[in-house]
Amino acid sequence: MTRLIVSGTDTGIGKTVLSAAIAAATGAAYWKPIQSGLDDGSDAESVARLGVSRIHPEAYRLTQPLSPHRAAELDGVTIDPDRLVPPSGPVVVEGAGGVLVPVRRDLLFADLFARWQLPVVLAARTTLGTINHSLLSIEALRARGVPILGIAFVGDANPDNEATIAELGRVRRLGRLDRLDPLDAITLARAFAASFNMEDFGA
Ligand SMILES: Nc1ncnc2c1ncn2[C@@H]1O[C@H](COP(=O)(O)OP(=O)(O)OP(=O)(O)O)[C@@H](O)[C@H]1O
Ligand SMILES: [Mg+2]
Repeated sequence: MTRLIVSGTDTGIGKTVLSAAIAAATGAAYWKPIQSGLDDGSDAESVARLGVSRIHPEAYRLTQPLSPHRAAELDGVTIDPDRLVPPSGPVVVEGAGGVLVPVRRDLLFADLFARWQLPVVLAARTTLGTINHSLLSIEALRARGVPILGIAFVGDANPDNEATIAELGRVRRLGRLDRLDPLDAITLARAFAASFNMEDFGA
């Protein structure tokens, strides 16, 4: 069964697009536990546009486009970790930002992932700097006992960066999504199927 987390090496790395591709291809639902920033549309709205039909409502919708710990403070909201429990059944859960983003001042996303014990797909870019960010993220996940399904690259091919991360990080390279133009449900499904192996995602 498809039950996994999509995290990334940074904000804006392509987690939502990758989550949409995985959920649409496997038929899994999508869940963003905490949405920070509502003015530019939510990640749930983006995945709906990209072909995902089953979407669970966020546990928290915060108005400011900031790290959840700060966005919650500014909205006067206290995030209760007991409300951050992945829905049952096949689901793709998208974290906010990267693995060490604070959910609260006393809880990081990677700590939540460790509680959930769901495997993480780490979204990473292919360009200069990605080896450092990817290996740091992998170490942080391993230090907390979070299972890693593999790494998914987004962007133009960079065979040495991609192979070096897989080798030094001892992680599986799941595939690479090209930058798509246009980006829509059809181009995304096609690009995902061309580069990724559905069985890796429990489909
Ligand atoms: N493969 C792709 N092809 C074209 N555009 C992409 C691709 N992946 C991501 N983008 C675009 O890059 C931007 C950031 O992507 P995305 O929203 O998926 O990042 P994110 O990691 O989910 O960000 P956040 O941390 O805000 O959740 C979006 O405008 C998205 O449409
Ligand atoms: Mg996102």
